[in-house]
Amino acid sequence: MNLNPEKQLMDLSRDFIKSNSSANFTKEKYEDLLDVLRFHERKYYIENNPLFSDREYDKLFQLAKEVEKQHAEWITPLSPTQRVGSDVENTFQTVSHLTPMLSLANSYNENDLFEFDTQMKKLLDRKDNVTYAVEPKYDGGSIVLVYENDILISAATRGDGQVGEDITPNIKSLKTIPLSAPFSNLGITKVELRGEAIIPKNIFQDINKEREKTGLPVFANPRNAATGGLRMKQPQETAKRGIEAFIYQISYIEGKDYNTEKLNSHYHRIQLLSEMGFKVPENEKALCNTIQEVVVFCENWEAKRDEYIYEIDGMVVKIDNVEWQNQLGATNHHPRWAMAYKFKAKQATSKLENVEYQVGKIGTVTPVAKITPTQLAGVTISSISLHNEDFITAKDIRLYDTILIERAGDVIPYIVKSFPELRNGEEVKIEFPTSCPACGTPLIREENEAAWRCLNANCTAQVLQKMIFHVSKDAMDIEGLGKSNIINFFELKFLHDISDIYNLDYSAIEKLEGFGEKSASNIKSSIEKAKKNPLHRILHSLSIHHLGKKASKIIASHITSIYDLQDWDLEKYQEIKDIGPVLAKNITEFFSLDENIQLLKRMEKYGVDMSQKEADKPIEVREDAEFKDKTILFTGSLENFTRKEAQVMAEEQGAKVISAVSGNLNILVVGKNAGSKLAKAEKLGTVEIMTEEEFVNKIGL
Ligand code: IVH
Repeated sequence: MNLNPEKQLMDLSRDFIKSNSSANFTKEKYEDLLDVLRFHERKYYIENNPLFSDREYDKLFQLAKEVEKQHAEWITPLSPTQRVGSDVENTFQTVSHLTPMLSLANSYNENDLFEFDTQMKKLLDRKDNVTYAVEPKYDGGSIVLVYENDILISAATRGDGQVGEDITPNIKSLKTIPLSAPFSNLGITKVELRGEAIIPKNIFQDINKEREKTGLPVFANPRNAATGGLRMKQPQETAKRGIEAFIYQISYIEGKDYNTEKLNSHYHRIQLLSEMGFKVPENEKALCNTIQEVVVFCENWEAKRDEYIYEIDGMVVKIDNVEWQNQLGATNHHPRWAMAYKFKAKQATSKLENVEYQVGKIGTVTPVAKITPTQLAGVTISSISLHNEDFITAKDIRLYDTILIERAGDVIPYIVKSFPELRNGEEVKIEFPTSCPACGTPLIREENEAAWRCLNANCTAQVLQKMIFHVSKDAMDIEGLGKSNIINFFELKFLHDISDIYNLDYSAIEKLEGFGEKSASNIKSSIEKAKKNPLHRILHSLSIHHLGKKASKIIASHITSIYDLQDWDLEKYQEIKDIGPVLAKNITEFFSLDENIQLLKRMEKYGVDMSQKEADKPIEVREDAEFKDKTILFTGSLENFTRKEAQVMAEEQGAKVISAVSGNLNILVVGKNAGSKLAKAEKLGTVEIMTEEEFVNKIGL
């Protein structure tokens, strides 16, 4: 008999994937499928250790939906398909919390914590040390969940602490929240949990990038994005925000004879919740036997807060013993048994002293606020982007206004708001320029774009920015020729446009102050190297509006020389997936202008190879390829090929080569002396393991 439940669930998952048919399902088999889905959700969302690829999970999910189509009578709200499936809109009615949700008392330094400890010992009448549970203070939106008879029956915002808003449909759409959990195993019939809904910083940045692109106002911080997301009318919209939820407290328990002993430690309560499938602080929490340990733990977290993937604004120190917590009770404002240790502020006020306008490589004019230098979480800030005209208008920001600024995690500083109530009449409305601050050309604002642009291709500011981008890592990657050298050479009139980069007078550079034979020759060799760059890099380095790395690669794969694009019309671009009409228009415009063709010809004359290089040609994958859409990894030493040769062969058969063993890996090819990768793949149980010989047979060599 197989006693490993994870292994059993994996075997079941594979069976479902293999048959992939909704025919002949019994109710029992359907329930198994739901268990399998819940298992993968937990692995993915709670444990961050997925065992299946997204595609495989989607297959299982679709299968469940298929079965539910045929057997609507089996569906219960607990099916993972029902998280966002229902049409239930949020009505935001009010719900009373089972226990009032107070605030936390704040502390800011070591001394405050020592005082707290002294106070606790006094109130508890104890001489010995008190044990504290410490965990991050997540900076998101608070949520309150109620489970009755193991089922999530209600979810609400904090509201005023007594009553919150009902957001049950939205909360059910979050995959980090179990729709049911086995509280009854502990003798609990009803329970109230508290937690924090939060968006990881990287997802938050992606959301803002996307919003900026589509002209929507950006969020000041992950907290605003999360709390806004919780209050969407459509649960589908909440589901898209990337919100996760950490549970940090059991605030109410009902049940005839629940195990009080097992539940008397806050720390262990959180462990129990983790075992039940809730997302809780794991390595981020500690049980401390002395207040000194608490201080060290808090200070360590303050030092690494920027590296943590979630925004946290402090730590929460809690008396671990729940009986003592109850004994201590609360003031009107906060529980006596807990204390927030707040990190240094990430918000501060400053004054807007001036607005400067920067011209970017495609002529976008960006307003930049020059502010009174201000300390923010250990960094001095003196300039902050004002993004665009709409941002200034929407926030009603005026010159000389007092402004609130914020630096959240590794997020760039941001102006949260102005304070109109602090104005004294000296403030001046910001007039966006109507002509380019660098060349004087009237600015244009195109439909659906938030930016004002200078369309003069010869604008000096633009030409300079284009050169800076051209040599950057993402573009031609010319090492040793960074921003400052480009500015320097531009001012010295060594450079007029990007073609001059390939025709530099190295003997003149050698003689410049701070240079010499060695550095001039280093620059020369990076430039010589860049002349042989793949075509997609050249295309990307031309600063064509909206033409990014990915689109450059796609287009380059369809041509043999850059000049081929002179013959491409808008229709031709329509044949290519992923290239939209706006981008197509921008590229055709670029290649229709004689001055641009002349620029390319000059680059070519100076040695830049404008053709598709053999080595960069994309690999053609046949429809019936052996490894189509599979991920593959080679480990150990191969007998018949080099690693690179084997990888190319696998790619020709449609495989994607990846570098690590994870739940996303489909095939591991093992050569001689394979080590830890093989062991890990075996342990996962989801990876197809092949010898070199089997691999060779598969690809028909
Ligand atoms: S315990 C008394 N623990 O901080 C209420 N709160 O001012 C229970 N918060 O908005 C507080 N992380 O949502 C507690 N690990 C944590 C927390 C935490 C974030 C939030 C809470 C509330 C605020 C309290």
